[in-house]
Amino acid sequence: MTDQQNVYPVRDDIAANAWADREKYQALYQQSVEDPEGFWAEQAKRIEWFKTPTKIKHTTFDPHNVDIRWFEDGTLNASVSCLDRHLETRGDQTAIIWEGDDPNDAKHVTYRELHAKTCQLANALKELGIGKGDVVTLYMPMIPEAAVAMLACARIGAVHSVVFGGFSPDALAQRIIGANSKLVITADESVRGGKHVPLKDNVDAALTRKGTEVCEKVMVVKRTGGEIDWSEGRNVWYHDLVDKQATDCPAEEMNAEDPLFILYTSGSTGAPKGLKHTTGGYLVYASLTHQYIFDYQDGEVYWCTADVGWVTGHSYIVYGPLANGATTLMFEGVPSYPSHGRMGEIVDKHNVNILYTAPTAIRALMAHGDGVMDTSKRDSLRLLGSVGEPINPEAWEWFYRVIGNSKCPIVDTWWQTETGGILISPLPGAIDLKPGSATLPFFGVVPALVDAEGNELEGVADGNLVILDSWPGQARSIWGDHERFIQTYFSTYKGMYFTGDGCRRDEDGYYWITGRVDDVLNVSGHRMGTAEIESSLVAHEAVAEAAVVGFPHDIKGQGIYIYVTLTDGVEPTDELKKELTQWVRKDIGPIASPDVIQWAPGLPKTRSGKIMRRILRKIAANETGGLGDTSTLADPSVVDDLIENRANR
Ligand code: PRX
Repeated sequence: MTDQQNVYPVRDDIAANAWADREKYQALYQQSVEDPEGFWAEQAKRIEWFKTPTKIKHTTFDPHNVDIRWFEDGTLNASVSCLDRHLETRGDQTAIIWEGDDPNDAKHVTYRELHAKTCQLANALKELGIGKGDVVTLYMPMIPEAAVAMLACARIGAVHSVVFGGFSPDALAQRIIGANSKLVITADESVRGGKHVPLKDNVDAALTRKGTEVCEKVMVVKRTGGEIDWSEGRNVWYHDLVDKQATDCPAEEMNAEDPLFILYTSGSTGAPKGLKHTTGGYLVYASLTHQYIFDYQDGEVYWCTADVGWVTGHSYIVYGPLANGATTLMFEGVPSYPSHGRMGEIVDKHNVNILYTAPTAIRALMAHGDGVMDTSKRDSLRLLGSVGEPINPEAWEWFYRVIGNSKCPIVDTWWQTETGGILISPLPGAIDLKPGSATLPFFGVVPALVDAEGNELEGVADGNLVILDSWPGQARSIWGDHERFIQTYFSTYKGMYFTGDGCRRDEDGYYWITGRVDDVLNVSGHRMGTAEIESSLVAHEAVAEAAVVGFPHDIKGQGIYIYVTLTDGVEPTDELKKELTQWVRKDIGPIASPDVIQWAPGLPKTRSGKIMRRILRKIAANETGGLGDTSTLADPSVVDDLIENRANR
C-alpha cells in the first residue's frame, strides 16, 4: 500500500451539518489531550448518572501497577442511558429494526418496547437467582433478544459475556469456565444463509465438558422451533419465564468501574483472554465515538453489519447507538443470501443512511462485479464505514463508487476489542480521506510509533503502534488475570499500551495500519491466535507438530496456512487433510477452517528449538526469493523441502 493515492476532501454538504468540521475537530482534539480531565468531565454529561462523577481520570500505564479508572466516584446504570431516558422524548421511535435471514422477515422494536422487554428479562433473571456481579454467557443468533439480554444483564448489574454463535462447543465451554458463568442464554437454532445452526445442541455439548458444572441453567429462545433435547429443571424456555414478568424493573446502581461485560478475544499466546470492560467510561466513549465518527443525526437509520458476538456489535450495534437514541438495524443473515444483492436491498428496504461493514464483505461483493449492486439504488446512504482489518485501496474505491454511488464519505475505523471503541478514524465533516488510511486519532487518543526497542519515531515513520495515554473506553483488565493484562499490553514498551499492530505515518500525520506484528491472524476480520489453532492440531493423534501462519488472501484478507509434521508411520493423504480441516472446525469453529495444509517433514527451527515463523510466512506467501538470514537454522535443508512442496500454488 502506498499513500500516493487519491485524496477525497471533506464534502461541503457533509461539513455544513456535521457534528464536527475541521476547526471543531482540531479544537476539541487539542483540548482533549491538553486537558483530559476537563474534556471528559464535560463529555460524561452525555449519559445519565445517578451520581455525577467528580473524579474523572486516574490512570497509569506503569507496568508495575497498571491501573485504569475513569469517573470512579460516579454511579449509573448503562440500560438507563440506553432506554429509560429516551422514553419521554422518543418512546415510540424505532430503536431496533430487525431484518431476518429470510427477506420476508422483519420487525421494528420501539424504545418503549425494548425497555419493557429488557425489564421483563431482567426480572426473569432475578427469578433465576442471577444478581449483581454474576456472569451470564450469551450464545445467541442476531435477534433482538440478544440486545435485550445484554441490556437486561446491565439492568441488574450482571456481567454479560457474549460468545459468537459460530464458535464450537469446546470454545464455548472454555469461555463458560473462564468466566465462571452461572447461566447461558441461547436459542434453539440460529438461521444464517437459509441454514440452521444448532445452538442449543452446542450448549448441551459444551456443558458435558469438565468444569462447566458452575453453569446451573440454560435459557432458550424459541427461534425456529427445531427439535432440541430438553433437560427439565436445567433448561427454561425464555418466553415461558419472561412473558409473565412485570414490564418494569428498577435499575441497579452501579459504580462507573463495575464491570459491564467480558469479551473473549485471541492473543498471540495461550487461551483466549476475557477482556474486562467497565460501565461509565465505556458508555461515554461508545456513545461519543458513535455520534461523531458516524456523524449520527437524529432520525437516521444506522446499520452495522457485525455480529453481537464481536466488540463491534457491542459498541456499535447496541451500546453506542442506543445511548444516542438512534435507530439501529440488526441483520440476522449473511450478505450473500438469498443473493449477493442482499446488502443493497436491505439498505433500500429500510432506508439506511449509514452503513458500517467490513473489508472482507466488500471484497466478496466486488468479486462479483459492479452488477452485483444492480438490484438496489442505495439513494438513502449518506455515510459508509469500514472496520476489522486494513482495507485495500481497490476495495475502498469500489465501496465508495459502487455501494456509495460516489457520494458518501468512508470512515475507516481502526480499533480493537481491547480499546472498547474507535481510536483512529476520520470524522466525515473534518478530515480529508485517503483510501486505505484510518487517518487521525479521535478525541483523547494519543498514538505513537515506536521501533523494536521502544524508541519513539517522529514524523514520517514506520513502526509499532502504541497509545501513550488512557481513554475512557479502554479495557481495564483480563478477567481473573491482571498480571496477564500487564504482560500482554504494557510490558513490551514500558509505560505504553502496545496494540500489536504495525503502522506507518505519512507526511500529513495520517496513520496507515499495516496489520498485526504478532502471531495473531485476522481472517475475514475475525481475530485468531496461531497458537490456538496449533494446539488444536497437535491434539490429533496423527500430528506430531504444527505451525500456523497467515498468508495474503484476496477476499479474506488473510488465509490460514498450516504446516503439519506427521507422527512417525502416518501416511500423508488427502483424506487426512480433510480430517484435520474438520478437526479444527469442530474444535474451534468454522471461522478457523484451514485454507492450506502442507505436509512438513521438518519445520525450520533455531538451534534453541524456536520455530522461525518469518520463513514459514514467506513460503506461504510465495515470497521465497528473500527468505533473509537462515544461518541460525539448526537444519537449513528443511527449508528447501518446504519450498519445493509448497501447497499454495
Ligand atoms: O489488526 C487490527 C485489526 O483488527 C485488530 C483488532 O481485532 P478485534 O479485537 O477483533 O477488533 C476488530 C473490530 C474492532 C486490530 O489489532 N483492525 C481493526 N480495524 C482495523 C484494523 N486494521 C486496519 N484497519 C482497521 N480499520
